[in-house]
Amino acid sequence: MRIGILGYGTVGSGLVDVIDNNKSKRDIEIVKILVKDKSKHKDKKYFDKLTTNIDDVFNNNIDVLVELIGGLNPSLEYIKRALSSKIHVVTANKDLLAEHGNELVELSNKNNVNIKFEASVGGGIPVLKPLIESLEGNSIDSIYAILNGTTNFILSKMYNESLSYDDALKQAQILGFAEANPDSDVLGYDAARKLSILSTLAYNNRVYWKDLYLEGITDIDAKDMEYAKQLNCKIKLVGQSRYEDDVVSASVRPVLVGNESILAMVDNEFNIVVVNGDSVGELSFVGKGAGKLATGSAVYSDLLDILDNRSASINSFTKSRVKVNKIVKNKCSALLRFKDCQKDEIIHVIKECMQNYDILNDDDDELAIMVHANSEYEINNSLCVIKDKGYCVGVNKLLKIS
Ligand code: HSE
Repeated sequence: MRIGILGYGTVGSGLVDVIDNNKSKRDIEIVKILVKDKSKHKDKKYFDKLTTNIDDVFNNNIDVLVELIGGLNPSLEYIKRALSSKIHVVTANKDLLAEHGNELVELSNKNNVNIKFEASVGGGIPVLKPLIESLEGNSIDSIYAILNGTTNFILSKMYNESLSYDDALKQAQILGFAEANPDSDVLGYDAARKLSILSTLAYNNRVYWKDLYLEGITDIDAKDMEYAKQLNCKIKLVGQSRYEDDVVSASVRPVLVGNESILAMVDNEFNIVVVNGDSVGELSFVGKGAGKLATGSAVYSDLLDILDNRSASINSFTKSRVKVNKIVKNKCSALLRFKDCQKDEIIHVIKECMQNYDILNDDDDELAIMVHANSEYEINNSLCVIKDKGYCVGVNKLLKIS
């Protein structure tokens, strides 16, 4: 099988290593590797295969185009060109799948070639294939997951080693976990895109990532970590979705998770995806969610599927866009932190509106309360009352999930 690779960064280098490590087992020939600037790759293997001209890739009789540039442009154009030319595509590009998955899957069907994207969700964890193939005998009604290695790494380092947010982010970048623009990671876009891909496949309905409730980790600070420890919890950026009565509810947000929960055991760049199927019950997939070789392993597995002619249909992307609710109407608890506030007045409102509450801190210049309510709506309503009455300037809210 002759392949052309677009991009020779972290994932591209990982794929090349995995191909080489398995050379004796499978015959995959790297024909061309597209890069922006050859001089940046002088010390890498396959320097003789590098090109800066996309036509060199397409004019070399390739069977598969492996897109590892990331982002929407020019990846979209190159992938469309490949599919229209009846060349199979393997990609790790979650941005592209989340935004243009519908038209790309349609185009691949029309041209009778595959587009495969195992590495786009969960890094090295084989999760899309089990979802598409092994769990076909299930209706899946919920997913909860840690889907971004960079933010999980940052939150773990802040919690376990008291590292600052900035230092932890720098380490994640050096280790090759973060996106070229880490805003995608820390603002939660990356996890939202991955959750939309998972949910689309799991619920057989197109879930568009911009319809999700989204909150990143940029407001999490050392004090949040202290409160989390006090509560016997950790803080994780969690993606959750549920399918009920033809409606999806979905969110990506930082939350408190109890130390006994399975999510709390997944630290650093590791990811976890927990799905609930009506036949199989709860199922968890855990592994490295980012990094060179782990992601290379997932890309490689897609290549083997194409080589061995194993392809399952993924028509859920072509379905119409399903309605998405941003809030799940469950009983919930939340940590509320009020700054510059009138403490007694706020406690009075909380007492009136909430089922129950515990004060964690009212000594410093802030008031921290854990509240327990019938739903997040109830919490939001009481926060509206507090703000309307001018009892505080700002409030941070962190839900606890069980
Ligand atoms: N930046 C991504 C992450 C890479 O940190 O999870 C893997 O998709």
